[in-house]
Amino acid sequence: MDATSFIIQFHLILILLICCNTSTNLAMAANNSSTNFSTAILIRVDQSGQGDFKKIQDAIDAVPSNNTELFFIWVKPGTYREKIVVPADKPFITLSGTEASNTIITSSEGGDITESPTVTVLASDFVARYLTIQNLFGTSGKAVALKVKGDRGAFYSCRIQSYQDTLLDDSGRHYYNNCYIEGAVDFIFGSAASLYERCHIHSVAAGAITAQGRETPLENSGFTFLGCKITGTGGNTSLGRPWGSYSRVVFAYTFMANIIQPEGWNDWGDSTKQSTSYYGEYKCYGPGANRSKRVVWSRSLSNEDAAPFLTKNMIGGRSWLRPTPTHFKRSGSTNIVTSAGEN
Ligand SMILES: *[C@@H]1O[C@H](CO)[C@@H](O)[C@H](O)[C@H]1NC(C)=O
Ligand SMILES: *[C@@H]1O[C@H](CO)[C@@H](O)[C@H](O)[C@H]1NC(C)=O
Ligand SMILES: *[C@@H]1O[C@H](CO)[C@@H](O)[C@H](O)[C@H]1NC(C)=O
Ligand SMILES: *[C@@H]1O[C@H](CO)[C@@H](O)[C@H](O)[C@H]1NC(C)=O
Ligand SMILES: *[C@@H]1O[C@H](CO)[C@@H](O)[C@H](O)[C@H]1NC(C)=O
Ligand SMILES: *[C@@H]1O[C@H](CO)[C@@H](O)[C@H](O)[C@H]1NC(C)=O
Repeated sequence: MDATSFIIQFHLILILLICCNTSTNLAMAANNSSTNFSTAILIRVDQSGQGDFKKIQDAIDAVPSNNTELFFIWVKPGTYREKIVVPADKPFITLSGTEASNTIITSSEGGDITESPTVTVLASDFVARYLTIQNLFGTSGKAVALKVKGDRGAFYSCRIQSYQDTLLDDSGRHYYNNCYIEGAVDFIFGSAASLYERCHIHSVAAGAITAQGRETPLENSGFTFLGCKITGTGGNTSLGRPWGSYSRVVFAYTFMANIIQPEGWNDWGDSTKQSTSYYGEYKCYGPGANRSKRVVWSRSLSNEDAAPFLTKNMIGGRSWLRPTPTHFKRSGSTNIVTSAGEN
């Protein structure tokens, strides 16, 4: 495939993606006078050698430090056995596959939440789309698939899979849309302020879905699940337990299968956290959503209580959610051009 047909085909794929992803249409461009959000520098990663790089990390390394332009890293289908770090000095990167089912980033390191992540995002303004991010360490300990520490991170149609501590939603404001997240023990945890919209949460064994880490009442963090679906196989799964004293989690308009334990939430063996945690449910449905045996310190939210959690305000509004770029260019930077074909 020559460069021109590649670009044409790429545009066709993007048009399809844009048409089928309403959330992208809804998103508004951030107003950043120094960054043109309609245009991105395109870097292609292809294991067959026809792109600019064979490895995803090499593409990220090619983005200049303190970049002010958008970089769109398009990853061709394949299984990438890599651990990836997006460093803090490289904002405005989009990492995009074509379908999560065939674009897989995988590793299998376990034991430690800092060392184990398959993908670590330290940069702000990061976007991932159509990728599977997995940690195949297994069932014998902590093994993070994705750690998100940068502010303003967005994830669209990604599959995030491990067993214990799958998603370290560490800090900053994040948005997850149409993602599939799988695990068993504390598999969505951390101190970020995040909105999970229309995501599928799948529990593969008894455990807790969330372990949110808000430590003080002043901290603006918490997880909201809006219009999600919870399924699983193990049974006896709790919606959450408090990693931080002021842990805050809300499920709204969410389907819950019968794997959710009747009590719903637990205090992780520390009853003092019952009065400081904020665990709410609003208009959820399905066999796991029956609140008649829920712990009394969890909340059935009124319309008024729920209102702040039903919008993007809790992640700082929608202003930073950027649309998919419509124009792509090759970099003038020798850094990228000379790297092509070297791999
Ligand atoms: C974006 O911000 C710049 C200054 O930072 C301002 O001049 C411009 O009018 C803004 N554009 C929009 C569309 O708000
Ligand atoms: C942003 O990029 C688009 C497409 O290349 C171009 O039409 C537009 O003029 C650019 N805007 C600014 C502010 O440079
Ligand atoms: C990037 O910005 C940081 C913070 O301003 C600075 O310390 C660093 O030297 C910059 N890096 C480059 C390569 O300019
Ligand atoms: C705008 O872009 C600059 C340069 O990358 C970045 O330092 C800054 O944080 C951005 N501002 C906003 C509001 O996103
Ligand atoms: C379910 O899990 C809780 C801990 O969350 C445990 O205390 C309880 O014994 C378990 N129940 C069953 C039936 O396994
Ligand atoms: C909820 O559970 C209680 C007790 O187990 C039961 O009586 C009630 O009918 C259930 N509610 C619904 C809507 O299924």
